Amino acid sequence: MTPPSGAMPDGLPVDFARRLIAWQRAAGRHHLPWQGTRDPYQVWLSEIMLQQTQVSTVLDYYPRFLARFPDVQALAAAPVDEVMALWSGLGYYSRARNLHRCAQVVVTAHGGQFPGSAAGLEALPGIGASTAAAIAAFCHGERISILDGNVRRVLGRLLAFDEDLARAGAQQRLWGLAQALLPERPSHQDMVAYTQGLMDLGATLCTRSRPRCPQCPVHDVCRAHAQGAEQSFPVRTRQLRRQSVAWWLLVWRRPVTGGWQLHLQRRPSPGIWAGLFCPPVFGSEAELLQAVPSGYRPQVRSLPVVAHSLTHREMRLYPMLLDAPCVMAGEALVPDGAWFDREALPGVGLPAPVRQLLDRL
Ligand code: ADE
Repeated sequence: MTPPSGAMPDGLPVDFARRLIAWQRAAGRHHLPWQGTRDPYQVWLSEIMLQQTQVSTVLDYYPRFLARFPDVQALAAAPVDEVMALWSGLGYYSRARNLHRCAQVVVTAHGGQFPGSAAGLEALPGIGASTAAAIAAFCHGERISILDGNVRRVLGRLLAFDEDLARAGAQQRLWGLAQALLPERPSHQDMVAYTQGLMDLGATLCTRSRPRCPQCPVHDVCRAHAQGAEQSFPVRTRQLRRQSVAWWLLVWRRPVTGGWQLHLQRRPSPGIWAGLFCPPVFGSEAELLQAVPSGYRPQVRSLPVVAHSLTHREMRLYPMLLDAPCVMAGEALVPDGAWFDREALPGVGLPAPVRQLLDRL
């Protein structure tokens, strides 16, 4: 998605940008390790790590990653397994795979230089519109707005933006307003402070619950605050509030005379699918691979992803198949795990998407 450009629509708080910049300089964060550089590689790395991960966690991983891969060439040349290993624990492993692919594209197609504009950056693997805007604003002073989850909350409240952000078009309109709020002829330093200011406001004052409005530099022009309705913005349907869950399933088939057996685990209670049987569940691909003897790891292959909606959850199942002999009969791979004959599966309590997945084996 590309943020549209636009003139300042009527009624927007005109000095928002100036006040945000002044506040960021006086009261914002200035000592995060990725703030000390304008090197696109380092900024890109930090923004990808920060996409779904808290600052406190990234503070730990970022210097280690940079020490091992000090530039885009080093990252591009590394085996993907090593990148995954260093990423281990940060979650969302597609980010690590895209990170590696992106480094290779930058090296092979761009001579080792990241594109200098948000539009060019957005064409690279794993870089969405908001991340592209952040890198371009921080590294090049491009006049472009970020719009990540925190900023949607900040601007949604500031403007009392009452459109449902789960609807097509609403996000694009909010992005248009975000563009209109940008400082008019910003210096590079202004764009850095403005962009960081949006992030800092969302992280420290305009928080999801219990926002600290009296300390906010723009509370007097905040429409949600004027209505006493901070919690009502941004507007989202239930669909958007549904928490997403990603599970990696180890579908281990071992050959036995006349067929195969499958390892299944009874799901713990309380929890999703409590009491039903499911292939062993892992929070990431790396964790799943850790559970497999190292000699078998190259044989593990991904099956098609299964999307499944629960009332309060949006699940993505990443089944990974291993066909290999295993330990002695009866031995469990995981707590509450056991081997089941293929013929026994129709009688086992399996969640619907798991049964569909196993039926296709
Ligand atoms: N979240 C996303 N990008 C960030 C940054 N550069 N600093 C702090 N938090 C962030």
